[in-house]
Amino acid sequence: MCGIFAYTGKAKQAQNLVFNGLKNLEYRGYDSWGIAAIANDNKIQVVKKTGKIGNSAINNIDSTMAIGHTRWATHGGVTVKNAHPHLDCTGSLALIHNGIIENYDQIKNSLLKSGHRFLSETDSEVAVHLIEEYQKKLGFEEAVIAAFKEFQGLNAIIVMNADARVFAAAKNGSPLIVGKGRGENFLASDAHALLPYTRNIYFMEDGEAVFVDDKKISVYTLSDYQQKSVNFTTLDWRQDKTDRGHYPHYMIKEIHDQVKILEYITGHQDEGIKKFSDLISKSFGTYLVGCGTAAYASLAGTYIFSKIAKFHLNFSVASEFGYLVDFLTEKSLVIALSQSGETIDLIDAVRKAKKKGARIAALVNNLGSTLYRSADYKLLLNAGVEKAVVSTKAFTAKLAHLILIAYNLAGKLEEGKKVIRESVAAASRILEYDYQKKVRNLADKLANQDHIYIIGRGVSYPVALETALKIKEASYIHAEGFAGGELKHGVIALISKGTPCMAILADDETYSDTLSGVMEMKARGGYMIGLGSNNQQIFDEFLQIPDCGIATVIPNIIIGQLIGYYLAVKKGLDPDKPRNLAKSVTVK
Ligand code: BG6
Repeated sequence: MCGIFAYTGKAKQAQNLVFNGLKNLEYRGYDSWGIAAIANDNKIQVVKKTGKIGNSAINNIDSTMAIGHTRWATHGGVTVKNAHPHLDCTGSLALIHNGIIENYDQIKNSLLKSGHRFLSETDSEVAVHLIEEYQKKLGFEEAVIAAFKEFQGLNAIIVMNADARVFAAAKNGSPLIVGKGRGENFLASDAHALLPYTRNIYFMEDGEAVFVDDKKISVYTLSDYQQKSVNFTTLDWRQDKTDRGHYPHYMIKEIHDQVKILEYITGHQDEGIKKFSDLISKSFGTYLVGCGTAAYASLAGTYIFSKIAKFHLNFSVASEFGYLVDFLTEKSLVIALSQSGETIDLIDAVRKAKKKGARIAALVNNLGSTLYRSADYKLLLNAGVEKAVVSTKAFTAKLAHLILIAYNLAGKLEEGKKVIRESVAAASRILEYDYQKKVRNLADKLANQDHIYIIGRGVSYPVALETALKIKEASYIHAEGFAGGELKHGVIALISKGTPCMAILADDETYSDTLSGVMEMKARGGYMIGLGSNNQQIFDEFLQIPDCGIATVIPNIIIGQLIGYYLAVKKGLDPDKPRNLAKSVTVK
């Protein structure tokens, strides 16, 4: 997955407008970037760099037309040569790509036989040479369509033709949005990146191509190259303040945002909460699915609904759910959880579930995302824009919605709001300077460790998993969360003198069994760190958290988020853009 942006119009330095557009897309991949602009002599000039975008604009080109790309490598290492855009042999076509061309090697072999020269190891470069090859017998537009139809896999491309001064773009799977301005037009991977320039947009559908110059936008079907009239939408989206203010990183800013967001959810989401609990009550089998952090929120949901509403909800990691849909019927409800709404493993699972007749309910943070637009029912998380790749506020927003939907299903919504408010008070306490100092000191002690183990039972088990994920994502330390009961069935073999072990000691039916696990780890030399309301002497470190019933999962995970953050800071890492990760994964 990558971020792609294109501009044509009256701006004199189109490359810098594209540069700023890419900055808003960097969450989609940041190992290298590049921009191609058509200079006044109609020659394409290209700038490509490895690493994050930074702040230096490109001022030595006068151009009114440019494309740009920020990369998350799939094929070929992180090098300037493999960065996009890629040019054809004539240098008059420049291409940027998001996705994977699964059959690129066969296409490349036949193009090599036709004399094309390749400069990179990427699958993407094959696309611009195949278009060049088709142009030998077809017009530009037909050549783009003919080439794109040969690609297997989920892809989106934008091609800039310097001679015709036109963009061609095509979509199948990866997101692509068209923005219409006055005397200028745009293309981007994400509608949010267009908001600073226009609110008049069109979400391209799979199987469409679009041709854009500074005056005209025409949309065609890929299957039969038929022009189609489409409706542009005027977005009334609030353009969230996305600067990090006085915070050194987006991750710590977004950790602090959680107090306000949880208060907002308890006061403004009743209609959606009632709708979702009604859907669950009328369904014959409900499945919570998500990826990464959203998968752990889904798993927590199964405990929350069992305990609060006495309802059994199923859980599956979205990338596996596609292999588990055979029993779905039109009476089934699939609740898809996602921050971005663009994670392809989830989009694909939803597509397969829809084919089985299941209804889709999206608990999503990104208005206008593919998941939001494809779902039958939608409930926006309203966690605001989440810029840090390490997800924090979207997780607690998901937990809060699942808790309130479960309480509403049990006919006790106000009681649900009460425990969420208690968790907000606990969260505010944890975010106070002196408490954070304690967490920071703990993180400083753990920063040189290679392994950290976290146990939790019941609803604290997914919290243990998510805590481990935050530590792994932000600090690259191997952390493993697991069900407390599984300790003695294997993992305990990894515990020796001084091994840091965290235990989430919830004030519920899991308390004594979790404590037994703590004893067993201590007996093998574990350095025991406890989270809970009742300290025990056995612990070497203890972080006190007031009990707020099932909502204690919220302050518990905020501590996990802070440990991950302070470990990253201690190790001098960037918690907002960890290596090898991206905010939304749009490739398989
Ligand atoms: C990963 C992110 O790419 O996708 C994780 O790094 C996230 O933070 C996961 O949890 C799922 O993303 P989403 O947007 O579907 O919730």
